[in-house]
Amino acid sequence: MKRVLSGIQPSGQLHLGNYFGMMKRMIRYQEENDLFCCIVNYHALTSVRDSNVLSENTLQAAIDFIALGMDPEKSTFWIQGDVPQVTELTWLISTVTGVGLMERGTSYKDKLARGLTPNMGLFNYPILMASDILLFGGELVPVGKDQKQHLEMTRDIAQKFNQTFGDVFIIPEPDISKELQMVPGTDGQKMSKSYDNIIPIFGEEKAIKKKVMSIVTDSTQVDEPKDFSAPVFQLLSLFLDEEGIAELKSTASKPGLGFGDVKLSLFETILAEFESARSKREVLMNRKDDVLDMLKMGAQKASDVAEEYLEKARIATGISYGS
Ligand code: ADP
Ligand code: TRP
Repeated sequence: MKRVLSGIQPSGQLHLGNYFGMMKRMIRYQEENDLFCCIVNYHALTSVRDSNVLSENTLQAAIDFIALGMDPEKSTFWIQGDVPQVTELTWLISTVTGVGLMERGTSYKDKLARGLTPNMGLFNYPILMASDILLFGGELVPVGKDQKQHLEMTRDIAQKFNQTFGDVFIIPEPDISKELQMVPGTDGQKMSKSYDNIIPIFGEEKAIKKKVMSIVTDSTQVDEPKDFSAPVFQLLSLFLDEEGIAELKSTASKPGLGFGDVKLSLFETILAEFESARSKREVLMNRKDDVLDMLKMGAQKASDVAEEYLEKARIATGISYGS
């Protein structure tokens, strides 16, 4: 039984990229592993600037995750900020982290390239993420491909700390799905909350339909065979098994299929896939106090584990100087 750990930012509506890139696998992992999962609100603070938006998004992300199948009884599910020890460990490990390592961060460099004025939180983002993982002894970390470099940084930081101060941390392994590298957004680029290209998991049916109908397609006519690498086929394939994909591929390779029909079929598939999660979410929306209780229980469980690792790190570094 492995300790599987991951986190998700409450920086906007959860989307199909989040679901297939990380959430679905996390929910499945609960069955046979010791699962740790947090909503990383300290991370989201690097981009969200409105306190009401951040606190509401945080609770909403937790409700959505539970509606999709996260079980706070079986797993340890909490809000990052409810276990503030993570910020203390961030400081301890930042003292063994090279500035050059952070400067090579592609996610950081991308944001600079897009004209963002960086704050230190954004620069230190990968150290806080490393802290999330190391503080709880995470062994396996399910994430999308875009987080690969952050995981490599986490491993580097843990190794450096262990070499410098003695063996304290477990070196985590990334868990990146081989079949699924990147879920495309409506514009064909990586689906991301930071771009205006997401298809939300929840929300108004009308809004989902509008997003699905806006997916980019080429000008291939109904009587021509279609390019199966088009985003709409990639998206629909996410919901199908191997046989279903082969069937869709064969239909696409023959004339007679219109992109409009494929989009409608994707829309209906999305509604069907998340139908029961949608009803569960409705119930949870009216039971926010219960959700908060579940999250407090998760924070307590997480905190117990955090204290153990943190105390080891404090002693190893000499910050704890004995009682
Ligand atoms: P966003 O880019 O929308 O802000 P996050 O950075 O919060 O998403 O990502 C949360 C998790 O979902 C991460 O593990 C990330 O790798 C995964 N993820 C996000 N977008 C995609 C995508 N388009 N394809 C695959 N995985 C994704
Ligand atoms: N950086 C991750 C993302 O943007 C979120 C994250 C924060 C995370 N802490 C983590 C992922 C710990 C895995 C483990 O998606």
